[in-house]
Amino acid sequence: MYKLLEELHKKINNCRKCPLYKTAKHAVPGEGNPKTKIVFVGEAPGRVEDETGRPFVGRAGKLLNELLDSIGLKRESVFITSVVKHRPPKNRQPKSPEIKRCSFWLKHQLSIIKPELIVTLGRFGMEYFLPKEKISQIHGTIKKTLVNERFISVFPVYHPAAGLRSTRNKKRLFEDFQKLKKTISHDF
Ligand code: URA
Repeated sequence: MYKLLEELHKKINNCRKCPLYKTAKHAVPGEGNPKTKIVFVGEAPGRVEDETGRPFVGRAGKLLNELLDSIGLKRESVFITSVVKHRPPKNRQPKSPEIKRCSFWLKHQLSIIKPELIVTLGRFGMEYFLPKEKISQIHGTIKKTLVNERFISVFPVYHPAAGLRSTRNKKRLFEDFQKLKKTISHDF
């Protein structure tokens, strides 16, 4: 499994499926425990992620670490990635053709890891799995969806970057993580 994921990440590092690789310094395939039951899916790498090739290591990543700590979940015990693997210039939102092409990789990663629960961080992560939903309505709740022909649970929360912009969103994030803790201890 490690080998399969390693091979896949090499391909992601050389991806030319959309133009984002031209302006990015590194691809950010994701990292963590390939045997985990829980995968976190964000939007796209930011500046520090682009510089290091690692997911969620900038300011939003620090908040994600705090959120994980608040429910006793170790970062190394889960897998963390994003829908888009190369940084969009100036952190603009990823465009729909970029998401469509790049999600090929996410789908493949999930077919190797086979998680039981996916926590989406922000709107773009959620929309990939639950395209008809609104994050303001379903954050902090569980939805079932088909991923690679398996029904799995999706738990959407706001993006940690939204928590850095407003104390209200930060509070919501900590509340939703408490709900996530309950869900994990009951069902996973
Ligand atoms: N935001 C994301 O959505 N993904 C990262 O890897 C970093 C910031």
